[in-house]
Amino acid sequence: MDRKRIRTTLVPAVTAALALASGAVALTTVSPAQALENGVARTPPMGWNSWNTFGCNINESLIRQMADAIVNSGLRDLGYQYVVVDDCWFNPNRDSSGNIQGDPSRFPSGMKALGDYLHNKGLKFGIYQVPVDKTCAQYFNSYPGATGSQGHEAQDARQFAAWGVDYLKYDWCSPNGTINDQVATFAKMRDALKATGRPIVYSINPNSIHSKTGPQRNWGDVANMWRTTEDITNKWDTGQTNGYPMGIQNIVNVTVPLASYAGPGHFNDPDMMEIGRGGMNDTEMRSHFALWAMMASPLIAGNDIRSMDSATQTILKNKNLIAINQDSLGLQATQVSNDGTRRVLAKKLANGDVAVALFNQGGSTTTVSTTTSAIGKSGGTVTLTDAWTNATSTTSGTISASVPAHGTVVYRVSSPGSSPSASPSASPSVSPSVSPSASPSASPSASPSASPSTSPVPGGCSATIKTINSWGGGFQSEVTVQAGSSAVNGWTVKWTWPGGQTISSLWNGRQSSSGSSVTVTNESYNGSIAAGASTTFGFTANGSAATPTATCTSP
Ligand code: GLA
Repeated sequence: MDRKRIRTTLVPAVTAALALASGAVALTTVSPAQALENGVARTPPMGWNSWNTFGCNINESLIRQMADAIVNSGLRDLGYQYVVVDDCWFNPNRDSSGNIQGDPSRFPSGMKALGDYLHNKGLKFGIYQVPVDKTCAQYFNSYPGATGSQGHEAQDARQFAAWGVDYLKYDWCSPNGTINDQVATFAKMRDALKATGRPIVYSINPNSIHSKTGPQRNWGDVANMWRTTEDITNKWDTGQTNGYPMGIQNIVNVTVPLASYAGPGHFNDPDMMEIGRGGMNDTEMRSHFALWAMMASPLIAGNDIRSMDSATQTILKNKNLIAINQDSLGLQATQVSNDGTRRVLAKKLANGDVAVALFNQGGSTTTVSTTTSAIGKSGGTVTLTDAWTNATSTTSGTISASVPAHGTVVYRVSSPGSSPSASPSASPSVSPSVSPSASPSASPSASPSASPSTSPVPGGCSATIKTINSWGGGFQSEVTVQAGSSAVNGWTVKWTWPGGQTISSLWNGRQSSSGSSVTVTNESYNGSIAAGASTTFGFTANGSAATPTATCTSP
């Protein structure tokens, strides 16, 4: 849904609070062992959401028609289960007891009746709410009222459970709050949902109207899925690193490095799909689906299911890719290589197969290659099954394909005698074999050491670079910009790469690099840092992980 959202609406007064957000702290204090275990979302949730196509224009007959279409098109039987009613479903006023209610003109039969309708069709019921006072539509004045869950968490959770809700999308929708405030606030609803006793998928978005905290930590202790980026749009590349609106390539850049966070019950969410909504060619639409499948992303369609053309159906119904996405190991593909144009991802599957994606990020057809050993299938002849064509071939070394601009070829790579479908009983403990540093379950191979930083002088700032993840040929870092004993208004961080590293994507800052010299200045929303406080930005880079000394200046 395109909206005229102006990111500069973020009021400067809140930026000091935002600046306190420190993903570095959170990353080191939350261990994956604390993952939320509520029994649901053992594989990435699949379904449909109203927002991308309909925005605020929703009502019960539309949702029922969509449910009918999901069943009649065969999508339900392929796994698309959750029907999620996004923003603008509620009465702008709570009742006299403070209960949230459906909007009586949009949902005259009530929300319980809608839940019953969906359940009778073999579908599941998803609904949208926020932890603050106003939903995003209410914040942007496109819907009246202030009916967020703030102060009503337990009451709303009970109401949702009573309506038969199976999935809650809980959207931050505020410029306020540090990342630690967000963790605490999202945890309130997590606990309220648990207290209802009903299994409910908990889907959060920390990024809306806020600094992009989604990629700054592993939210698996709080939620079943968490948005990694700003909102998606139906374009391949919008030029954004993590700002509104995001194209497919931009979202992939942010989400690939977060692979180690994903597993059964907890998944990175690169947003609802744009397949079937125009704005991209067929190759790009296929690539979008293939990459979401490889990234173990929730597959939530965002198109009008009542009027899908055959190209859209071919994509959304690709059983090979759905099987890769829904594999019981729940692993997100890790990056094998990325030279800026040719990007290779590999996803280990429960029956010992490995899915490999050969992704061409460039503007013209090129050959993308990897090897059996790079993806952990060395030692003999393997069969490659093309996920789009079902064509098979064999190799004992090179895996390659000619891939059109923005295309993604996916092969399922099997050893002789392996069953084509993932066996749920396959042991998840087989040793990770993608590459020593690319194991999805391995802890980040990067050294935890950070670059030195000098103490900032009054009115000045300092910067520290820390590597938080690395893989063969690339790494992800976080840079903490620390104010001294006076507040900072605008900052510039500079460093020089020691070994030819190059930044492939950067968020929460603006980059102007030249050769090995890197200069990053603040975005409009994170330039002001209160005295003694800090803010962070992050990047992914090609080359071997390095932590050069960075300098920080403030005008
Ligand atoms: C935010 C979310 C979107 C959608 C809208 C609703 O922008 O990121 O997915 O839910 O709010 O207003």
